[in-house]
Amino acid sequence: MSCPEIVSGLNPGSMDLQLAAISPYVRRARVTEAAQAAFLLRVAFAEVAALYTPEALEATLVDTETLRRRMTGEGAVWLAFVETRAVGTVSAIPRSEGLHVRSMAVHPESRGRGVGRALLDAVERFGRDRGHQRIFLRTTPFLTSAIALYSRSGFTMREDAERDFHGVPLFEMEKLLELDLRERG
Ligand SMILES: CC(C)(COP(=O)(O)OP(=O)(O)OC[C@H]1O[C@@H](n2cnc3c(N)ncnc32)[C@H](O)[C@@H]1OP(=O)(O)O)[C@@H](O)C(=O)NCCC(=O)NCCS
Repeated sequence: MSCPEIVSGLNPGSMDLQLAAISPYVRRARVTEAAQAAFLLRVAFAEVAALYTPEALEATLVDTETLRRRMTGEGAVWLAFVETRAVGTVSAIPRSEGLHVRSMAVHPESRGRGVGRALLDAVERFGRDRGHQRIFLRTTPFLTSAIALYSRSGFTMREDAERDFHGVPLFEMEKLLELDLRERG
């Protein structure tokens, strides 16, 4: 059984200090940390903000209150840390069609060192623990780093699910989770 709080990467109580300096760890965000997650979203999307319509950007950059509601409702929000600094966030919301991954963001200065991958691993573990057989997300063609991350993590594109998101093209990527046979009678 995994520690309820630190769900991916390192346990600060037992980690090698040198490794700690370079490796991210991920845990569920606390309600008091919702503003940090909202801030990270804004910083991470700043470079692509001009590619969104104003309506699509507003819907993408969810606010602190929305993140709080995800944490206290059926959803979940994670933060990734490098040393003691929060550098990334992701959310997940259970839906009838699977676990919906939302609001993935890594601070520009912390990219390319596995933070996004660690966040996605945490979501996947959460999905498996709760019996989801599918995790999915929606992204847009100009988010090339995100598409690379999801593809490298085993997500595939659903060609049939493209739609318009406030004037921005949106398509769906999905990953089917294998059932853990040990948990079946
Ligand atoms: C997408 C994003 C979260 C990736 O975060 P990250 O911490 O840099 O990603 P990682 O370092 O964990 O990379 C994970 C994998 O994706 C690949 N990848 C990530 N960015 C890439 C890029 N720009 N080009 C090519 N591959 C890339 C890595 O090679 C890595 O694969 P590997 O482990 O097999 O080598 C980050 O770029 C970001 O916040 N972008 C802006 C917001 C955004 O697009 N959010 C997603 C909304 S759908």
